[in-house]
Amino acid sequence: MPTNDPKFYVSTPIYYVNDRPHIGHIYTTTLADVLARYHRLRGDRTFFLTGTDEHAAKVVDTAKEKGFTAQQWADQNAGVFQDTFKKLGMSNDDFIRTSQDRHTSRVKQYIQQLIESGDVYAGEYEGWYDAGQEEYLPENKAKEYDYRSPFNNKPLVRKVETNYFFKLSAYQDRLTELLNDHPQFVQPDARRNEVLGRIREGLNDVPISRSGSGGWGIAMPGDESQTVYVWIDALFNYYTTVDTDDRRAFWPADVHLIAKDILWFHAVIWPAMLMALDLPLPKQVYSHSFWISEGQKMSKSLGNFIDLEKIDEYVDEFSLDALRWYLSTQGPLGSTDSDFAHGKFVDVYNSDLANTLGNCAARVTNMIVRYFDGKMPAAAPGREDAEARQLRSVAMGMYEKVDTLYEKVAVAAANDAALEVVRAVDTFIEQTQPFKLAKDESQRERLGMILYYCAEALRIASLGLSPVLPDKMAEFWQLLGITYDTQAGDLADWCQWGGLQLGSDVQKGAPLFPRKQDK
Ligand code: MSP
Repeated sequence: MPTNDPKFYVSTPIYYVNDRPHIGHIYTTTLADVLARYHRLRGDRTFFLTGTDEHAAKVVDTAKEKGFTAQQWADQNAGVFQDTFKKLGMSNDDFIRTSQDRHTSRVKQYIQQLIESGDVYAGEYEGWYDAGQEEYLPENKAKEYDYRSPFNNKPLVRKVETNYFFKLSAYQDRLTELLNDHPQFVQPDARRNEVLGRIREGLNDVPISRSGSGGWGIAMPGDESQTVYVWIDALFNYYTTVDTDDRRAFWPADVHLIAKDILWFHAVIWPAMLMALDLPLPKQVYSHSFWISEGQKMSKSLGNFIDLEKIDEYVDEFSLDALRWYLSTQGPLGSTDSDFAHGKFVDVYNSDLANTLGNCAARVTNMIVRYFDGKMPAAAPGREDAEARQLRSVAMGMYEKVDTLYEKVAVAAANDAALEVVRAVDTFIEQTQPFKLAKDESQRERLGMILYYCAEALRIASLGLSPVLPDKMAEFWQLLGITYDTQAGDLADWCQWGGLQLGSDVQKGAPLFPRKQDK
Protein backbone atom coordinates (compact mmCIF):
# COMPACT_ATOMS: atom_id res chain seq x y z
CA MET A 1 0.00 0.00 0.00
CA PRO A 2 2.22 2.82 -1.10
CA THR A 3 1.21 6.15 0.37
CA ASN A 4 2.06 8.13 -2.74
CA ASP A 5 -0.49 6.24 -4.83
CA PRO A 6 -3.71 8.24 -4.66
CA LYS A 7 -5.98 5.23 -5.15
CA PHE A 8 -6.90 2.50 -2.71
CA TYR A 9 -8.79 -0.73 -3.36
CA VAL A 10 -9.70 -2.93 -0.39
CA SER A 11 -11.76 -6.12 -0.48
CA THR A 12 -13.25 -8.58 1.98
CA PRO A 13 -13.84 -12.25 1.25
CA ILE A 14 -17.16 -12.76 -0.46
CA TYR A 15 -19.24 -14.63 2.07
CA TYR A 16 -21.03 -17.91 1.57
CA VAL A 17 -24.62 -17.16 1.01
CA ASN A 18 -25.74 -20.18 2.99
CA ASP A 19 -24.51 -18.69 6.25
CA ARG A 20 -26.08 -15.94 8.30
CA PRO A 21 -23.80 -13.00 9.00
CA HIS A 22 -21.92 -13.35 12.29
CA ILE A 23 -19.06 -11.66 14.14
CA GLY A 24 -16.44 -13.12 11.77
CA HIS A 25 -18.00 -11.62 8.63
CA ILE A 26 -18.73 -8.40 10.46
CA TYR A 27 -15.18 -8.15 11.75
CA THR A 28 -13.46 -8.43 8.37
CA THR A 29 -15.99 -6.09 6.78
CA THR A 30 -15.58 -3.55 9.61
CA LEU A 31 -11.80 -3.64 9.20
CA ALA A 32 -12.17 -3.05 5.47
CA ASP A 33 -14.61 -0.24 6.21
CA VAL A 34 -12.13 1.39 8.61
CA LEU A 35 -9.36 1.19 6.00
CA ALA A 36 -11.66 2.57 3.30
CA ARG A 37 -12.78 5.46 5.50
CA TYR A 38 -9.18 6.22 6.40
CA HIS A 39 -8.17 6.37 2.76
CA ARG A 40 -11.11 8.54 1.77
CA LEU A 41 -10.20 10.87 4.63
CA ARG A 42 -6.69 10.97 3.29
CA GLY A 43 -8.01 11.97 -0.13
CA ASP A 44 -7.32 8.70 -1.97
CA ARG A 45 -9.73 7.54 -4.66
CA THR A 46 -11.08 4.58 -2.76
CA PHE A 47 -12.91 1.42 -3.74
CA PHE A 48 -14.21 -0.92 -1.05
CA LEU A 49 -15.70 -4.20 -2.21
CA THR A 50 -17.58 -6.90 -0.39
CA GLY A 51 -20.19 -9.39 -1.56
CA THR A 52 -21.49 -12.95 -1.58
CA ASP A 53 -20.17 -16.24 -2.90
CA GLU A 54 -23.22 -18.05 -4.22
CA HIS A 55 -22.33 -21.03 -6.38
CA ALA A 56 -21.57 -23.56 -3.64
CA ALA A 57 -23.20 -26.96 -4.10
CA LYS A 58 -24.83 -26.76 -0.69
CA VAL A 59 -26.85 -23.76 -1.85
CA VAL A 60 -28.67 -26.10 -4.24
CA ASP A 61 -29.33 -28.63 -1.48
CA THR A 62 -30.54 -26.13 1.09
CA ALA A 63 -32.72 -24.33 -1.44
CA LYS A 64 -34.35 -27.64 -2.31
CA GLU A 65 -34.98 -28.46 1.35
CA LYS A 66 -36.58 -25.06 1.84
CA GLY A 67 -38.65 -25.25 -1.32
CA PHE A 68 -36.85 -22.54 -3.27
CA THR A 69 -34.78 -22.43 -6.40
CA ALA A 70 -31.08 -21.91 -5.77
CA GLN A 71 -31.34 -18.40 -7.19
CA GLN A 72 -34.25 -17.49 -4.93
CA TRP A 73 -32.43 -18.82 -1.89
CA ALA A 74 -29.27 -16.94 -2.87
CA ASP A 75 -31.26 -13.72 -3.47
CA GLN A 76 -32.84 -13.96 -0.08
CA ASN A 77 -29.61 -14.58 1.81
CA ALA A 78 -27.51 -12.11 -0.15
CA GLY A 79 -30.20 -9.64 0.86
CA VAL A 80 -29.59 -10.44 4.53
CA PHE A 81 -25.87 -9.67 4.13
CA GLN A 82 -26.64 -6.46 2.25
CA ASP A 83 -29.17 -5.29 4.85
CA THR A 84 -26.83 -6.16 7.70
CA PHE A 85 -23.92 -4.25 6.23
CA LYS A 86 -26.15 -1.30 5.54
CA LYS A 87 -27.51 -1.30 9.05
CA LEU A 88 -24.00 -1.46 10.43
CA GLY A 89 -23.02 1.57 8.37
CA MET A 90 -20.54 -0.17 6.07
CA SER A 91 -19.38 2.17 3.36
CA ASN A 92 -18.75 -0.42 0.65
CA ASP A 93 -18.76 1.02 -2.85
CA ASP A 94 -20.21 -2.10 -4.41
CA PHE A 95 -21.58 -5.50 -3.42
CA ILE A 96 -20.69 -8.24 -5.85
CA ARG A 97 -22.79 -11.38 -6.11
CA THR A 98 -21.24 -14.22 -8.05
CA SER A 99 -24.58 -15.10 -9.63
CA GLN A 100 -24.66 -11.72 -11.37
CA ASP A 101 -24.12 -11.54 -15.09
CA ARG A 102 -21.36 -9.01 -14.80
CA HIS A 103 -19.40 -11.64 -12.88
CA THR A 104 -20.29 -14.87 -14.68
CA SER A 105 -19.74 -13.51 -18.19
CA ARG A 106 -16.27 -12.26 -17.31
CA VAL A 107 -15.26 -15.45 -15.49
CA LYS A 108 -16.05 -17.39 -18.68
CA GLN A 109 -13.91 -15.01 -20.64
CA TYR A 110 -10.90 -15.37 -18.32
CA ILE A 111 -11.17 -19.14 -18.28
CA GLN A 112 -11.38 -19.24 -22.06
CA GLN A 113 -8.18 -17.24 -22.09
CA LEU A 114 -6.53 -19.73 -19.72
CA ILE A 115 -7.58 -22.62 -21.95
CA GLU A 116 -6.06 -20.85 -24.94
CA SER A 117 -2.79 -20.16 -23.13
CA GLY A 118 -2.55 -23.82 -22.07
CA ASP A 119 -2.84 -23.00 -18.36
CA VAL A 120 -6.09 -24.92 -18.16
CA TYR A 121 -6.34 -28.47 -19.56
CA ALA A 122 -8.70 -31.48 -19.30
CA GLY A 123 -7.63 -34.37 -17.05
CA GLU A 124 -8.75 -36.88 -14.45
CA TYR A 125 -8.71 -36.25 -10.74
CA GLU A 126 -8.94 -38.57 -7.80
CA GLY A 127 -8.63 -37.38 -4.22
CA TRP A 128 -9.97 -36.78 -0.73
CA TYR A 129 -12.84 -34.34 -0.84
CA ASP A 130 -14.12 -32.26 2.06
CA ALA A 131 -17.75 -31.72 1.10
CA GLY A 132 -18.39 -29.07 3.76
CA GLN A 133 -15.49 -26.90 2.59
CA GLU A 134 -15.87 -27.90 -1.07
CA GLU A 135 -12.19 -28.62 -1.37
CA TYR A 136 -9.85 -31.50 -1.99
CA LEU A 137 -7.20 -32.21 0.62
CA PRO A 138 -3.75 -33.41 -0.43
CA GLU A 139 -2.93 -36.97 0.68
CA ASN A 140 -0.59 -35.89 3.51
CA LYS A 141 -3.17 -33.50 4.95
CA ALA A 142 -5.98 -36.02 4.65
CA LYS A 143 -3.86 -38.52 6.56
CA GLU A 144 -2.87 -35.95 9.17
CA TYR A 145 -6.54 -35.31 9.87
CA ASP A 146 -7.31 -39.02 9.94
CA TYR A 147 -9.36 -38.73 6.74
CA ARG A 148 -11.83 -36.41 8.42
CA SER A 149 -12.65 -32.79 7.77
CA PRO A 150 -10.56 -30.48 9.96
CA PHE A 151 -13.55 -28.16 9.93
CA ASN A 152 -16.54 -30.33 10.79
CA ASN A 153 -14.94 -33.72 11.49
CA LYS A 154 -17.12 -35.49 8.90
CA PRO A 155 -15.35 -38.27 6.94
CA LEU A 156 -13.59 -37.12 3.76
CA VAL A 157 -15.00 -38.65 0.58
CA ARG A 158 -12.88 -40.46 -2.04
CA LYS A 159 -13.85 -38.88 -5.34
CA VAL A 160 -12.83 -39.43 -8.96
CA GLU A 161 -13.73 -36.85 -11.54
CA THR A 162 -12.91 -35.88 -15.06
CA ASN A 163 -12.32 -32.24 -14.99
CA TYR A 164 -10.27 -29.29 -15.99
CA PHE A 165 -7.02 -28.48 -14.24
CA PHE A 166 -5.10 -25.30 -13.68
CA LYS A 167 -1.34 -25.67 -14.14
CA LEU A 168 -0.43 -24.44 -10.69
CA SER A 169 2.77 -26.51 -10.74
CA ALA A 170 4.19 -24.23 -13.43
CA TYR A 171 4.12 -21.28 -11.05
CA GLN A 172 6.06 -22.67 -8.10
CA ASP A 173 9.21 -20.63 -8.79
CA ARG A 174 7.41 -17.39 -9.47
CA LEU A 175 5.27 -17.77 -6.36
CA THR A 176 8.31 -18.51 -4.20
CA GLU A 177 10.02 -15.46 -5.63
CA LEU A 178 6.94 -13.34 -5.03
CA LEU A 179 6.74 -14.27 -1.35
CA ASN A 180 10.48 -13.98 -0.78
CA ASP A 181 11.05 -10.74 -2.64
CA HIS A 182 7.86 -9.02 -1.56
CA PRO A 183 7.33 -9.79 2.11
CA GLN A 184 4.40 -7.39 2.07
CA PHE A 185 2.50 -9.67 -0.28
CA VAL A 186 1.31 -11.90 2.55
CA GLN A 187 0.98 -10.43 6.03
CA PRO A 188 1.41 -11.00 8.96
CA ASP A 189 4.85 -12.60 8.56
CA ALA A 190 3.86 -15.77 10.41
CA ARG A 191 1.26 -16.42 7.71
CA ARG A 192 3.71 -15.73 4.91
CA ASN A 193 6.15 -18.26 6.37
CA GLU A 194 3.37 -20.83 6.57
CA VAL A 195 2.57 -20.36 2.90
CA LEU A 196 6.23 -20.47 1.86
CA GLY A 197 6.64 -23.71 3.79
CA ARG A 198 3.72 -25.31 2.02
CA ILE A 199 4.89 -24.13 -1.40
CA ARG A 200 8.26 -25.69 -0.67
CA GLU A 201 6.54 -29.08 -0.29
CA GLY A 202 5.64 -28.81 -3.98
CA LEU A 203 2.62 -27.65 -5.94
CA ASN A 204 0.25 -29.93 -7.82
CA ASP A 205 -2.05 -28.80 -10.57
CA VAL A 206 -5.51 -28.08 -9.21
CA PRO A 207 -8.90 -29.07 -10.57
CA ILE A 208 -10.97 -26.02 -11.42
CA SER A 209 -14.20 -27.65 -12.51
CA ARG A 210 -16.64 -30.28 -11.34
CA SER A 211 -19.41 -32.22 -12.95
CA GLY A 212 -23.10 -32.39 -12.13
CA SER A 213 -23.96 -29.20 -10.29
CA GLY A 214 -27.64 -29.19 -11.15
CA GLY A 215 -27.25 -26.19 -13.41
CA TRP A 216 -26.09 -23.95 -10.55
CA GLY A 217 -22.75 -22.29 -11.21
CA ILE A 218 -20.76 -21.11 -14.20
CA ALA A 219 -20.54 -23.57 -17.10
CA MET A 220 -17.00 -24.34 -18.28
CA PRO A 221 -16.44 -22.60 -21.60
CA GLY A 222 -16.73 -25.25 -24.35
CA ASP A 223 -17.94 -28.03 -22.00
CA GLU A 224 -21.43 -27.61 -20.58
CA SER A 225 -21.10 -30.86 -18.58
CA GLN A 226 -18.66 -29.12 -16.25
CA THR A 227 -19.10 -26.25 -13.86
CA VAL A 228 -16.36 -23.91 -12.74
CA TYR A 229 -15.28 -24.91 -9.24
CA VAL A 230 -16.80 -22.51 -6.74
CA TRP A 231 -13.47 -21.31 -5.34
CA ILE A 232 -12.10 -20.37 -8.75
CA ASP A 233 -15.36 -18.64 -9.60
CA ALA A 234 -15.25 -16.75 -6.29
CA LEU A 235 -11.64 -15.57 -6.43
CA PHE A 236 -12.31 -13.85 -9.72
CA ASN A 237 -14.79 -11.50 -8.04
CA TYR A 238 -11.99 -9.15 -7.05
CA TYR A 239 -11.22 -8.57 -10.70
CA THR A 240 -14.59 -8.95 -12.46
CA THR A 241 -16.02 -6.09 -10.39
CA VAL A 242 -13.40 -3.62 -11.57
CA ASP A 243 -12.86 -4.95 -15.08
CA THR A 244 -14.89 -2.08 -16.53
CA ASP A 245 -13.71 1.11 -18.23
CA ASP A 246 -14.49 3.35 -15.31
CA ARG A 247 -12.95 1.12 -12.65
CA ARG A 248 -10.01 -0.65 -14.24
CA ALA A 249 -7.60 1.91 -12.76
CA PHE A 250 -8.37 0.50 -9.30
CA TRP A 251 -6.62 -2.74 -10.22
CA PRO A 252 -4.42 -4.14 -8.72
CA ALA A 253 -6.16 -4.30 -5.36
CA ASP A 254 -4.17 -2.78 -2.52
CA VAL A 255 -5.34 -5.20 0.18
CA HIS A 256 -7.39 -8.36 0.12
CA LEU A 257 -8.49 -8.72 3.73
CA ILE A 258 -9.20 -12.32 4.68
CA ALA A 259 -8.79 -14.66 7.66
CA LYS A 260 -6.35 -17.52 7.98
CA ASP A 261 -8.94 -20.13 6.93
CA ILE A 262 -8.76 -19.09 3.29
CA LEU A 263 -5.13 -18.07 3.02
CA TRP A 264 -3.96 -20.72 0.56
CA PHE A 265 -6.50 -19.74 -2.07
CA HIS A 266 -5.56 -16.08 -1.81
CA ALA A 267 -1.82 -16.35 -1.37
CA VAL A 268 -1.15 -19.09 -3.93
CA ILE A 269 -3.97 -19.98 -6.30
CA TRP A 270 -5.17 -16.44 -6.93
CA PRO A 271 -1.79 -14.87 -7.75
CA ALA A 272 -0.92 -17.87 -9.94
CA MET A 273 -4.14 -17.39 -11.92
CA LEU A 274 -3.36 -13.71 -12.33
CA MET A 275 0.16 -14.57 -13.47
CA ALA A 276 -1.33 -16.91 -16.05
CA LEU A 277 -3.62 -14.13 -17.24
CA ASP A 278 -0.71 -11.68 -17.33
CA LEU A 279 -2.47 -9.36 -14.91
CA PRO A 280 -0.85 -7.30 -12.16
CA LEU A 281 -0.93 -8.90 -8.72
CA PRO A 282 -2.68 -7.49 -5.66
CA LYS A 283 -0.24 -5.64 -3.43
CA GLN A 284 -1.20 -7.48 -0.28
CA VAL A 285 -3.16 -10.35 1.13
CA TYR A 286 -3.70 -9.55 4.79
CA SER A 287 -4.78 -12.60 6.74
CA HIS A 288 -6.04 -11.99 10.24
CA SER A 289 -6.81 -14.64 12.85
CA PHE A 290 -10.09 -15.68 14.43
CA TRP A 291 -12.45 -14.42 17.07
CA ILE A 292 -13.23 -16.86 19.77
CA SER A 293 -15.85 -16.05 22.39
CA GLU A 294 -15.68 -16.03 26.18
CA GLY A 295 -12.41 -17.96 25.98
CA GLN A 296 -13.64 -20.75 23.70
CA LYS A 297 -14.16 -21.51 20.02
CA MET A 298 -17.53 -20.04 19.03
CA SER A 299 -20.23 -22.62 18.75
CA LYS A 300 -23.97 -22.58 18.67
CA SER A 301 -24.19 -25.49 21.09
CA LEU A 302 -21.93 -23.83 23.68
CA GLY A 303 -24.17 -20.78 23.48
CA ASN A 304 -21.22 -18.43 22.97
CA PHE A 305 -21.84 -17.77 19.30
CA ILE A 306 -21.75 -14.06 18.45
CA ASP A 307 -24.54 -13.89 15.91
CA LEU A 308 -26.39 -10.92 14.49
CA GLU A 309 -28.82 -10.75 17.40
CA LYS A 310 -25.95 -10.56 19.88
CA ILE A 311 -24.28 -7.87 17.79
CA ASP A 312 -27.49 -5.86 17.68
CA GLU A 313 -27.62 -5.98 21.48
CA TYR A 314 -24.12 -4.51 21.72
CA VAL A 315 -24.96 -1.80 19.21
CA ASP A 316 -28.15 -0.90 21.09
CA GLU A 317 -26.47 -0.75 24.43
CA PHE A 318 -23.06 0.76 23.59
CA SER A 319 -23.48 2.31 20.10
CA LEU A 320 -22.22 1.18 16.72
CA ASP A 321 -18.99 3.12 17.11
CA ALA A 322 -18.30 1.35 20.40
CA LEU A 323 -18.62 -2.01 18.63
CA ARG A 324 -16.28 -0.78 15.88
CA TRP A 325 -13.81 0.32 18.55
CA TYR A 326 -13.81 -3.04 20.29
CA LEU A 327 -13.47 -4.97 17.04
CA SER A 328 -10.68 -2.83 15.71
CA THR A 329 -8.64 -2.42 18.88
CA GLN A 330 -9.10 -5.89 20.40
CA GLY A 331 -9.50 -7.95 17.22
CA PRO A 332 -7.25 -10.71 15.87
CA LEU A 333 -5.18 -8.56 13.51
CA GLY A 334 -2.02 -10.53 14.18
CA SER A 335 -1.36 -14.24 14.21
CA THR A 336 -3.19 -15.08 17.43
CA ASP A 337 -6.92 -15.37 18.04
CA SER A 338 -8.84 -12.77 20.07
CA ASP A 339 -11.52 -13.21 22.66
CA PHE A 340 -14.90 -11.54 22.38
CA ALA A 341 -15.85 -11.37 26.06
CA HIS A 342 -18.55 -9.24 27.60
CA GLY A 343 -16.51 -8.16 30.63
CA LYS A 344 -13.61 -7.13 28.43
CA PHE A 345 -15.95 -5.21 26.14
CA VAL A 346 -17.27 -3.18 29.06
CA ASP A 347 -13.74 -2.53 30.41
CA VAL A 348 -12.42 -1.36 27.07
CA TYR A 349 -15.50 0.78 26.50
CA ASN A 350 -15.25 2.46 29.90
CA SER A 351 -11.53 2.98 29.85
CA ASP A 352 -10.93 4.13 26.24
CA LEU A 353 -14.23 5.65 25.25
CA ALA A 354 -16.08 6.81 28.36
CA ASN A 355 -13.21 7.79 30.67
CA THR A 356 -10.61 8.89 28.16
CA LEU A 357 -12.15 10.19 24.95
CA GLY A 358 -15.69 11.05 26.04
CA ASN A 359 -14.67 12.53 29.34
CA CYS A 360 -11.92 14.69 27.88
CA ALA A 361 -14.16 15.99 25.07
CA ALA A 362 -16.86 16.88 27.61
CA ARG A 363 -14.41 18.59 29.98
CA VAL A 364 -12.98 20.80 27.25
CA THR A 365 -16.24 21.81 25.56
CA ASN A 366 -17.87 22.39 28.95
CA MET A 367 -15.10 24.71 30.08
CA ILE A 368 -15.28 26.72 26.85
CA VAL A 369 -19.03 27.06 27.28
CA ARG A 370 -18.71 27.97 30.92
CA TYR A 371 -15.74 30.34 30.87
CA PHE A 372 -16.04 31.85 27.38
CA ASP A 373 -19.77 31.73 26.72
CA GLY A 374 -19.29 29.05 24.11
CA LYS A 375 -17.00 31.13 21.89
CA MET A 376 -13.67 29.63 20.98
CA PRO A 377 -11.00 31.63 22.83
CA ALA A 378 -7.80 32.88 21.18
CA ALA A 379 -4.66 30.78 20.98
CA ALA A 380 -2.60 33.72 22.28
CA PRO A 381 0.30 33.31 19.88
CA GLY A 382 3.72 33.93 21.36
CA ARG A 383 2.53 32.83 24.80
CA GLU A 384 3.23 29.14 24.35
CA ASP A 385 4.95 27.65 27.37
CA ALA A 386 6.76 24.30 27.59
CA GLU A 387 3.64 22.27 28.45
CA ALA A 388 1.64 23.79 25.63
CA ARG A 389 4.49 23.22 23.20
CA GLN A 390 4.64 19.59 24.26
CA LEU A 391 0.92 19.13 23.62
CA ARG A 392 1.13 20.81 20.23
CA SER A 393 4.03 18.63 19.25
CA VAL A 394 2.19 15.40 20.21
CA ALA A 395 -0.85 16.53 18.19
CA MET A 396 1.22 17.57 15.20
CA GLY A 397 3.08 14.26 15.18
CA MET A 398 -0.10 12.21 15.06
CA TYR A 399 -0.76 12.25 11.32
CA GLU A 400 2.55 10.75 10.36
CA LYS A 401 2.30 8.01 12.96
CA VAL A 402 -1.27 7.13 12.07
CA ASP A 403 -0.52 7.15 8.38
CA THR A 404 2.44 4.80 8.72
CA LEU A 405 0.39 2.46 10.88
CA TYR A 406 -2.60 2.41 8.54
CA GLU A 407 -0.24 1.55 5.73
CA LYS A 408 0.61 -1.61 7.68
CA VAL A 409 -3.06 -2.34 8.48
CA ALA A 410 -2.03 -1.78 12.12
CA VAL A 411 -5.45 -0.39 12.93
CA ALA A 412 -5.27 -0.98 16.70
CA ALA A 413 -1.93 0.81 16.94
CA ALA A 414 -3.22 3.67 14.77
CA ASN A 415 -6.19 4.10 17.12
CA ASP A 416 -3.82 4.18 20.02
CA ALA A 417 -1.64 6.82 18.37
CA ALA A 418 -4.74 9.03 18.05
CA LEU A 419 -5.87 8.29 21.60
CA GLU A 420 -2.41 9.27 22.79
CA VAL A 421 -3.23 12.85 21.77
CA VAL A 422 -6.34 12.70 23.97
CA ARG A 423 -4.22 11.45 26.87
CA ALA A 424 -1.82 14.33 26.26
CA VAL A 425 -4.75 16.75 26.58
CA ASP A 426 -5.63 15.16 29.94
CA THR A 427 -2.04 15.53 31.10
CA PHE A 428 -2.01 19.17 29.95
CA ILE A 429 -5.20 19.88 31.90
CA GLU A 430 -3.68 18.29 35.01
CA GLN A 431 -0.54 20.38 34.55
CA THR A 432 -2.23 23.70 33.91
CA GLN A 433 -5.41 23.38 36.03
CA PRO A 434 -7.62 25.67 33.92
CA PHE A 435 -10.56 25.30 36.37
CA LYS A 436 -8.39 27.05 38.98
CA LEU A 437 -7.18 29.75 36.62
CA ALA A 438 -10.82 30.50 35.81
CA LYS A 439 -11.20 31.98 39.24
CA ASP A 440 -8.53 34.61 38.57
CA GLU A 441 -9.48 37.35 36.09
CA SER A 442 -5.81 38.25 35.49
CA GLN A 443 -5.26 34.74 34.05
CA ARG A 444 -7.94 35.08 31.41
CA GLU A 445 -5.65 35.20 28.41
CA ARG A 446 -3.70 32.18 29.62
CA LEU A 447 -6.95 30.31 30.31
CA GLY A 448 -8.08 31.03 26.75
CA MET A 449 -4.81 29.76 25.35
CA ILE A 450 -5.03 26.57 27.40
CA LEU A 451 -8.57 25.80 26.28
CA TYR A 452 -7.77 26.59 22.66
CA TYR A 453 -4.83 24.17 22.84
CA CYS A 454 -7.03 21.47 24.37
CA ALA A 455 -9.76 21.88 21.77
CA GLU A 456 -7.31 22.04 18.89
CA ALA A 457 -5.45 18.91 20.02
CA LEU A 458 -8.79 17.12 20.44
CA ARG A 459 -9.83 18.21 16.95
CA ILE A 460 -6.69 16.60 15.51
CA ALA A 461 -7.21 13.45 17.61
CA SER A 462 -10.81 13.21 16.42
CA LEU A 463 -9.64 13.18 12.80
CA GLY A 464 -7.34 10.26 13.52
CA LEU A 465 -10.17 8.46 15.30
CA SER A 466 -12.89 9.16 12.78
CA PRO A 467 -12.36 6.11 10.51
CA VAL A 468 -13.25 3.91 13.52
CA LEU A 469 -15.70 6.26 15.22
CA PRO A 470 -17.35 8.05 12.27
CA ASP A 471 -20.66 8.89 13.96
CA LYS A 472 -19.30 9.98 17.31
CA MET A 473 -16.52 12.10 15.85
CA ALA A 474 -19.04 13.83 13.55
CA GLU A 475 -21.12 14.54 16.66
CA PHE A 476 -18.05 15.99 18.34
CA TRP A 477 -17.29 18.19 15.31
CA GLN A 478 -20.78 19.56 15.61
CA LEU A 479 -20.05 20.61 19.18
CA LEU A 480 -16.93 22.37 17.97
CA GLY A 481 -18.88 24.02 15.16
CA ILE A 482 -16.87 22.39 12.34
CA THR A 483 -17.61 19.95 9.53
CA TYR A 484 -15.43 17.77 7.35
CA ASP A 485 -16.17 16.12 4.06
CA THR A 486 -14.81 12.73 5.03
CA GLN A 487 -15.68 11.30 1.63
CA ALA A 488 -12.98 13.33 -0.04
CA GLY A 489 -10.66 14.47 2.71
CA ASP A 490 -7.33 16.15 3.00
CA LEU A 491 -6.14 14.63 6.23
CA ALA A 492 -2.51 15.77 6.12
CA ASP A 493 -3.69 19.36 5.77
CA TRP A 494 -6.50 19.05 8.30
CA CYS A 495 -4.05 17.71 10.86
CA GLN A 496 -1.98 20.91 10.72
CA TRP A 497 -2.13 22.91 13.93
CA GLY A 498 -4.47 25.89 13.94
CA GLY A 499 -7.69 24.63 12.38
CA LEU A 500 -10.07 26.04 14.98
CA GLN A 501 -11.21 29.62 14.52
CA LEU A 502 -11.32 32.30 17.21
CA GLY A 503 -14.90 33.09 18.19
CA SER A 504 -16.46 30.00 16.62
CA ASP A 505 -19.43 28.51 18.51
CA VAL A 506 -18.81 25.65 20.90
CA GLN A 507 -21.60 23.65 22.48
CA LYS A 508 -22.01 21.38 25.41
CA GLY A 509 -23.55 18.14 24.18
CA ALA A 510 -24.79 14.88 25.63
CA PRO A 511 -21.91 12.60 26.66
CA LEU A 512 -20.46 10.85 23.60
CA PHE A 513 -19.90 7.63 25.53
CA PRO A 514 -21.85 7.36 28.81
CA ARG A 515 -20.18 5.11 31.37
CA LYS A 516 -21.56 1.57 31.65
CA GLN A 517 -21.75 -1.01 34.40
CA ASP A 518 -20.81 -4.63 33.72
CA LYS A 519 -24.07 -6.42 34.36
N1 MSP B 1 -16.77 -17.83 0.29
C1 MSP B 1 -15.50 -18.02 0.88
C2 MSP B 1 -14.57 -16.86 0.54
C3 MSP B 1 -14.34 -16.60 -0.92
S1 MSP B 1 -13.36 -15.21 -1.18
C4 MSP B 1 -12.96 -15.26 -2.78
C5 MSP B 1 -15.64 -18.12 2.38
N2 MSP B 1 -16.73 -17.56 2.92
S2 MSP B 1 -17.08 -17.51 4.48
O1 MSP B 1 -18.44 -17.03 4.54
O2 MSP B 1 -16.82 -18.75 5.11
O3 MSP B 1 -16.20 -16.39 5.10
C6 MSP B 1 -14.91 -16.66 5.59
C7 MSP B 1 -14.36 -15.38 6.16
O4 MSP B 1 -15.24 -14.88 7.19
C8 MSP B 1 -13.01 -15.48 6.85
O5 MSP B 1 -11.94 -15.49 5.95
C9 MSP B 1 -13.05 -14.23 7.71
O6 MSP B 1 -12.89 -13.11 6.91
C10 MSP B 1 -14.47 -14.27 8.22
N3 MSP B 1 -14.59 -15.09 9.42
C11 MSP B 1 -15.41 -16.16 9.60
N4 MSP B 1 -15.30 -16.60 10.90
C12 MSP B 1 -14.40 -15.84 11.55
C13 MSP B 1 -14.01 -15.73 12.92
N5 MSP B 1 -14.43 -16.55 13.88
N6 MSP B 1 -13.18 -14.71 13.25
C14 MSP B 1 -12.77 -13.78 12.33
N7 MSP B 1 -13.15 -13.85 11.05
C15 MSP B 1 -13.77 -14.98 10.58
O7 MSP B 1 -14.74 -18.63 3.02
